[in-house]
Amino acid sequence: MKVIAVANQKGGVGKTTTTANLAASIAETGAHVLVIDLDPQGNLSSALGVEPIHEKSIYYVMIGEKTLLDQVQPTPCTNLSIISSNIHLAGCEVEIAKMEDPMYHLRKIVDAQRDSLHFDVILLDCPPSLGILMGNGLGAADAVLVPLQCEYFALEGLSKIIEVIQHVRGHEGVALLLDGIVFTMYDARTNLARQVVEDVRGHMGDKVYKTFIPRSIRFGEAPSHGKPITTYDPSGIGAQSYRQLAKEFMKRHEIRPRVQ
Ligand SMILES: Nc1ncnc2c1ncn2[C@@H]1O[C@H](COP(=O)(O)OP(=O)(O)OP(=O)(O)O)[C@@H](O)[C@H]1O
Ligand SMILES: [Mg+2]
Repeated sequence: MKVIAVANQKGGVGKTTTTANLAASIAETGAHVLVIDLDPQGNLSSALGVEPIHEKSIYYVMIGEKTLLDQVQPTPCTNLSIISSNIHLAGCEVEIAKMEDPMYHLRKIVDAQRDSLHFDVILLDCPPSLGILMGNGLGAADAVLVPLQCEYFALEGLSKIIEVIQHVRGHEGVALLLDGIVFTMYDARTNLARQVVEDVRGHMGDKVYKTFIPRSIRFGEAPSHGKPITTYDPSGIGAQSYRQLAKEFMKRHEIRPRVQ
């Protein structure tokens, strides 16, 4: 079971969109996927058409009252499950901060409960600030997938998150890796987008996923219908791009499609 954090401290770069749609695309291949919302904004549930029930929140896992398995809810997509969140999740930050090794609290939970979770991959949707919750996402993960928007300062933002990854990796027994960088909201018509891609590739080489996620108005529409792009607009360019990303991602992590 692979645990991958989808993280970037910058807001609005496509973390939640990537978590939902990459997960839906992997699930389509028959592999079993769990997504966990670590953001008190709680957007991941609506992106997947799940009613965020407070009693089922990741909050209760973080405060030690429930197990991960207790909180798993199905989604309308076959093979795709979710543990949702809501604004109350922000309330556990203070409690966790008081613990020993606060950044590795979720990691300890995942490690202790690994045997009860029969998923091929868990994707953690991290919030956009460098706080306790994002720290716990990174601390619990095997690797980090960084969605990056093609804009000025993209490289500066990237070096910040790489610094944070190196810091988390410093902890005993944690071998956090950079899984890769995926360009989101890509518009091939702009020189800036092409320039940013070239710069990032120059620095990061094949860490950059070959698949780019294009800018498409459909991504904005899909969550209001409670559907990932793969069911909202199954043959559109957005769905195609996330399926292509899923292929690359599964190859990198040796996740095999399951016979259904
Ligand atoms: N490829 C895309 N094309 C067009 N719009 C997109 C695309 N990807 C995401 N969006 C839109 O951009 C906005 C931000 O996306 P999203 O919520 O996924 O970002 P985020 O990084 O999770 O944000 P936050 O930091 O607040 O958690 C949303 O309105 C979403 O619909
Ligand atoms: Mg988000």
